[in-house]
Amino acid sequence: MPSPWIVQWSGLVPAGVPVLDVAAGGGRHTRFFTDRGHTVTAIDRDVSALTAHPNVEIVQADLEDGSPWPLPGRTFGAVVVTNYLHRPLFPALMDALAPGGVLLYETFMEGNERFGRPSQPEFLLKDGELLELARGRLSVTAYEARMISEPKMAMVQRIAARKF
Ligand SMILES: C[S@@+](CC[C@H](N)C(=O)[O-])C[C@H]1O[C@@H](n2cnc3c(N)ncnc32)[C@H](O)[C@@H]1O
Repeated sequence: MPSPWIVQWSGLVPAGVPVLDVAAGGGRHTRFFTDRGHTVTAIDRDVSALTAHPNVEIVQADLEDGSPWPLPGRTFGAVVVTNYLHRPLFPALMDALAPGGVLLYETFMEGNERFGRPSQPEFLLKDGELLELARGRLSVTAYEARMISEPKMAMVQRIAARKF
């Protein structure tokens, strides 16, 4: 099932633009956007759960091993990141957004420790961190920092924002 946040704000993504799904995992958002007619580039270090599709470019890459960003110079009409955080990627994610492109980002934040994993600070957004990422670069349409109960109890932070 796609994240309700991604579903809710997917309407911001212009029809037909290419979408980048970062740390795509099993491809739930890759499928969500291909079903809506987008071409999707799905990156993960483990692409075994991603299904081949004519409109999906699967990129196998370790995004944390210090290698250069695997899609240099490429830009997308939307960048989607869910349940994944590696702060050194933030500049590459901003560069991967075309002008007018939409960032849809949702992941765990501090306070999630009480519900289980992830619980290490490196995997938990700090209060307001996605707003800080957007400041001066993106126009924020929606932002939340809250507890959720589905699919499990968690503290999440999420943003939908458009590049100037
Ligand atoms: C919790 S899953 C989230 C998957 C997907 N975004 C979703 O929400 O369904 C985290 C994903 O990050 C990927 N990942 C973790 N470390 C990575 C790395 N160093 N480079 C690339 N992908 C990585 C994992 O393989 C996994 O698919």
